[in-house]
This record gives sequence, C-alpha cells and structure tokens, in this order.
Amino acid sequence: MDENDIIEIDLIIQAIHLKYGYDFRGYSKASIRRRITNMLTKAGFDTYASMLHALLIDETLFNSLLKEITVNVTNMFRDPEVYRAIRQTVLPALKGRSPLKVWNAGCSTGEEAYSIAILLSEAQLFPVYQIYATDIDEQVLKEAKDGIYDLKKIKDFTSNYQLSGGLESFSDYFTAKYDHARISQQFREQVVFFNHNLVTDSTFNEIDLILCRNVLIYFGSELQNRVFKLFWESLSPGGILCLGSKETIMFSDFADRFEALDPTNKLYRKK
Ligand SMILES: C[S@@+](CC[C@H](N)C(=O)[O-])C[C@H]1O[C@@H](n2cnc3c(N)ncnc32)[C@H](O)[C@@H]1O
Repeated sequence: MDENDIIEIDLIIQAIHLKYGYDFRGYSKASIRRRITNMLTKAGFDTYASMLHALLIDETLFNSLLKEITVNVTNMFRDPEVYRAIRQTVLPALKGRSPLKVWNAGCSTGEEAYSIAILLSEAQLFPVYQIYATDIDEQVLKEAKDGIYDLKKIKDFTSNYQLSGGLESFSDYFTAKYDHARISQQFREQVVFFNHNLVTDSTFNEIDLILCRNVLIYFGSELQNRVFKLFWESLSPGGILCLGSKETIMFSDFADRFEALDPTNKLYRKK
C-alpha cells in the first residue's frame, strides 16, 4: 500500500462520515485500512478512488463495507473463564444492588447479552435486573432481538456454558425448531436491544456492570479514552467494567480511576 493509497483510504473514511454519519476516523488505522482493502478486492474495484465514488452513490455498497468494518464475530459464554469470574467475583461484589443494571456495549447478535441474562437468572441474587444491549449495526440488533441461532452453534454454546461453571440443562434455555434454536422468551424480554454509538452517543445512568468486549480493540487510543470516559461516567460508584481478552484500561488516561478487580479476566472496578 503506497502513500496515495493511504490518502485515498483516509478520504473514504472522511466521505463515509460526511455522507452516512458513521465516524470511523478514530478507529485503529491498521485495522480499518485492512478492512477497506478487503472490500476493494471483494467488490472488484481497481482503485480506492473508484470505490470512494461508488460508495457515495451506492448505499448497498456502503452497507457491505459497514458489515466488513463492524466485525460481528461473537459467541455465547465467550472466554468461559470470564463468566466463571463474573459468577464468583463480580456478582457477590454487586450483591444487594436492586435493580442491578447491566450495559452490554457492542453486543453484536446478542449472544453475550443472553449469556449474562442466563447468569443473572441462575444467580438468583437479583429479583430485579435490567440489561441494556447496544450496537451500531442495525442488522445485528435485529438478529439479537430475534434470538434465533443456528442449531449447529448450540453445541459450542453448551460447552462454553459448562466451562463457565453452568450446572443447569442448557438446552432448556432454548426452543429448537428444524435447524435453529430460539432463546427463551423470558430472556428475550429481559434484554433491551437498541442502537447506540460509542463514538458519538452519550452516557447511561447508574450502571452496575458494563461488558464491552472485543470492541475497543478496533479503536485508536484517543477514541478508547473517549469511551473509557463514557464508561466511567455511566458506572455507579464501585461499578464494574469488563473488557475483552486483548483489551485493558491500564495504559489509558483512566487507569487511576479504576482498580483491577481481576486483571486476568479484564475486570476493573470504578474507584
Ligand atoms: C467483535 S464484535 C464483539 C461482540 C461481543 N462483545 C463479543 O465479545 O463477543 C464487535 C461489535 O462492536 C460493534 N461496534 C463497532 N463499533 C461500534 C461503536 N462505535 N459503537 C457500538 N458498537 C460498535 C460492532 O458492530 C460489532 O457488533
């Protein structure tokens, strides 16, 4: 990739912001350039300049690029040891908070939000809790609300659930039909999914637990600081932030406003 390619890619990022309002300017340069280059190859453009022009007039092409940029890979009970730590460390630390308020930022197709809903329901600690699950991608939010997953995935979900310390019959949480399974209505009703952009939207109030995993990895350090500020302001005192395995708050501007509750599992408590 030469200097001109980089200039044209940066122009694409600017153009997306001006035309469609999505602001990817603070995302990690290496990652976003790679994704735009993937799209160039897939869509068969010879130059970034020709793709830029097409993006301005073709919303369908923009939506395909959006899909490429917002990596939606997720899983139920992803990194099961983190959920084990939430069961063992976080829930006891948050005991007595009612209603317990959880925010799952960058929820993708809902697996993470439903995992936490299952965990809270099993803990029976909180007669009342609210789970807000947000993302910028409307398509994944729709899939999350439907809560329908390919039957082939359930085996993987089940083994993660068991590794996380789950002792119930996991299939009872789903209704299977043909080649898919739907998460029970009880959990679908407990999670509220909606659009929220970590780059541009504002804070939540008095959240006790924020899970934002495998999202900040795509952001540059300045943008990460903006998001940490958003989380710090959204959390209630003593509230807990859970990040992804490759993410940390410890080298950010907000490092001294959180204490490491369980750094291996990326659990931090607001001081
Ligand atoms: C790799 S998935 C992570 C899903 C889940 N948190 C997990 O760890 O399995 C990243 C998600 O972050 C979302 N995302 C990216 N930029 C975002 C932003 N600015 N605000 C909110 N969500 C964003 C993407 O749409 C995508 O669904």
